[in-house]
Amino acid sequence: MALPGAEFVVVANRLPVDLERLPDGSQRWKRSPGGLVTALEPMLRSRDGAWVGWPGTPDVDVEPLVEDGLQLHPVRLSATEVEEYYEGFSNGTLWPLYHDVVAPPVFHRHWWQAYVRVNQRFAMATAEVAAPGATIWVQDYQLQLLPAALRSLRPDLRIGFFLHIPFPPTELFMQLPWRREIVDGLLGADLVGFHTPGGARNFRWLATNLAKARPGRSRDEITVDDRPVRFGAFPISIDSAALDQLARSEAVQQRAAQIRADLGEPKKVILGVDRLDYTKGIDVRLLAFHELLAEGRVSAEDAVMIQLATPSRERVEHYQRMRDDIELAVGRINGEFARVGHPAVHYLHQSLPREELAAFFVAADVMLVTPLRDGMNLVAKEYVACRSNISGALVLSEFAGAAAELTQAFLVNPHDADGVKNALYAALTAPVAEQRRRMRALRRQVLTHDVDRWARSFLSALGMPEIPAAEAGK
Ligand code: ADP
Ligand code: G6P
Repeated sequence: MALPGAEFVVVANRLPVDLERLPDGSQRWKRSPGGLVTALEPMLRSRDGAWVGWPGTPDVDVEPLVEDGLQLHPVRLSATEVEEYYEGFSNGTLWPLYHDVVAPPVFHRHWWQAYVRVNQRFAMATAEVAAPGATIWVQDYQLQLLPAALRSLRPDLRIGFFLHIPFPPTELFMQLPWRREIVDGLLGADLVGFHTPGGARNFRWLATNLAKARPGRSRDEITVDDRPVRFGAFPISIDSAALDQLARSEAVQQRAAQIRADLGEPKKVILGVDRLDYTKGIDVRLLAFHELLAEGRVSAEDAVMIQLATPSRERVEHYQRMRDDIELAVGRINGEFARVGHPAVHYLHQSLPREELAAFFVAADVMLVTPLRDGMNLVAKEYVACRSNISGALVLSEFAGAAAELTQAFLVNPHDADGVKNALYAALTAPVAEQRRRMRALRRQVLTHDVDRWARSFLSALGMPEIPAAEAGK
């Protein structure tokens, strides 16, 4: 099907929906995992945009389609490309390198070559879809070469790039054998966005010291071949009002009560919700809970922990090893502290529907978000958006981008085992008045800084013409 040229195009490695092959040979679309899709989907739907991305299954040719008003343009990846570009360079090299090398990055030349090839293919697919003078918004670490590749094909386009993960300290970035190529790729954009000012500063240093950028007219601009490239911090968020409303609904409130009843009405419910990723510090929080139980400061009669973990990148080695470690830790805690019918830790290696997830957020007294490093972490904001009764406590790692905004959380250093343990204990025992004071401040931040505000601030810095309010609000 030929779709008309689009004025506004998001390009991301994944489409917002994944094509799933069922055992009986049939296929169905399901929501893609991760925070990028959570944030961008509502933003793009309200703007009538097009989305270019991989449908999540190798070796399938899918025609462009319109799904609920959104134009989807699938890009085909072969099984080898998935292995080398996605699992390899994106998630075996860049992901650990950009997350403080919490796992050692692996550098393979053939992974890099696949990354170059696939970025070029995405550039060609985008060039075909975009109307003359269109605005293109490229997303995330899998597509860092795309801005420059696209500019050479279509100099008429306005190109923005946003990185959803941390941009690393320059000393770490310099390990990358293809560091100059990556920076040159990003410099093809008119605007490069990061979650934090630190990321933007690292980029500026690399652009001027490693590539041929020169200082620009202002502190947030550099010049490349006489072309200005702007950069800055744009902390991402969620569709806070929609989630707040969902969490207040009768159905979600009832389901939350049911979850607590199913757990045996414990005094305290502790929750973790993550993709099963080694950056998320799931082991850190299990250790803290384990030690509090072992020391008798918390009793398994009173407090129950739930860990919901979306399966993720299951063919990448670090992920396989980490899954084993976490399941072992859960087994150990339950072995020591569970009673028949009353586990101390409930662990679900599953992806849940939005309504069900909202019910878990409503049911939880303490939310544990303990990544060793995280670009933003939307889960922390989602928990806050679901707490309309102004109760509950958020324990949040200092190394999540969200910590810069959610300063009234119980902030912890996830490398400090005693610190995490004490923060969890403090959150479990915080007086109601303190919980309310903290949660009120957190909600003020999350409800006023939503994903639409983030998108507007990025797109207006990019110079995209404003969409009329009636259109944008539909
Ligand atoms: P990341 O993008 O690294 O996965 P974020 O915290 O920014 O981390 O975003 C994760 C998104 O995935 C959130 O919207 C969260 O609600 C969702 N999510 C995480 N775990 C689950 C799960 N078990 N079931 C459904 N959604 C989940
Ligand atoms: C993070 C990344 C996204 C990615 C998502 C899910 O949010 O920033 O780019 O899409 O995780 O990971 P996956 O590898 O399954 O796409």
